[in-house]
Amino acid sequence: MGKNARQTSRLNAKSTLKPTRSPREESLATTADVLGKKLVNFAEPIKTPEAGIARVISVVNQKGGVGKTTTAINLGAALAEVGRRVLLIDFDSQASMTTGLGIKGPALREQYGSIWYLLNDSEAKLEDFILKSSVAGLDFIRGHEDLAAAEAAFVSEIAKEHKLRKLLAPVLDKYDVILIDCSPSLGTLTVNALTASNGVIIPMECEYFAVLGLSLVKKTIQKIKENTNPELEILGILATMFERKTSHSREVLELIDKEFPDEVFDTIISRTVRFSESTVAGVPVTAYASSSSGSASYRRLARELIARGGAK
Ligand SMILES: Nc1ncnc2c1ncn2[C@@H]1O[C@H](COP(=O)(O)OP(=O)(O)OP(=O)(O)O)[C@@H](O)[C@H]1O
Ligand SMILES: [Mg+2]
Repeated sequence: MGKNARQTSRLNAKSTLKPTRSPREESLATTADVLGKKLVNFAEPIKTPEAGIARVISVVNQKGGVGKTTTAINLGAALAEVGRRVLLIDFDSQASMTTGLGIKGPALREQYGSIWYLLNDSEAKLEDFILKSSVAGLDFIRGHEDLAAAEAAFVSEIAKEHKLRKLLAPVLDKYDVILIDCSPSLGTLTVNALTASNGVIIPMECEYFAVLGLSLVKKTIQKIKENTNPELEILGILATMFERKTSHSREVLELIDKEFPDEVFDTIISRTVRFSESTVAGVPVTAYASSSSGSASYRRLARELIARGGAK
């Protein structure tokens, strides 16, 4: 071995690069793989970022049941695993995120300390009500069913679109990423979330009607940019509930890739029962079934998001 080759191999031995593809990840469906394009590998070294201002990301789609909550919880957990300080906000009256993080029964019905309470009590400070999840580095603010009344309650308020932005401002320097799990609507609450955000992730079930709904989400984002938040950007469209065995899933992926080529994440989330199981268990899938393909795909999404500059 020549001197240069020895030096290179020593450097490689010292490298702090994370392993980029676990054996499980080799079998993950990705946009490039399914559409026969050049394979992409997110080999970025995942360093913990300098402390700074959090990137706020809304998980949005007015269509119900497309994987918004699943994405917020598991992307959050995957980011926390690589050292990010993550805060999740349950901004849906169904409070599924709160349930998915293990809060059930009377504690779920407690209005005090929920995001609804915070929106309604001008003296309340968000930092006083942050809860720790079972995953280190992953904190959250509870949702509450009374959020459903927010659309009506905010009607006459001045600057109502900025309420969440103001609530989050004091904790921005305590986190790297804040993920907001939105309800299946494009009403006042989602406008609040988008006004408070730097970016948007749009989970989309691999099903034909879902593609039709995308233009409505994009129109809303455009309106927010023109009115309350010019900085807002789409970080990516995430194909969810993908089924490798059906040609329909692939056709839908082809369609969104053709219409929104720069926006589709390479990472795809396949359909697996592990997600529903982990919700019942009240923990992210990365904790419930750490070596499952579902966990691997959200870990890959975390790397892709960082590589694209969507998160630090
Ligand atoms: N990739 C997946 N494979 C299989 N099941 C999934 C997947 N992603 C989510 N699910 C399940 O589908 C259901 C809906 O998912 P989720 O709650 O994340 O969607 P949502 O968009 O947040 O729904 P809503 O619009 O009602 O808030 C849940 O039971 C969840 O466990
Ligand atoms: Mg949801």
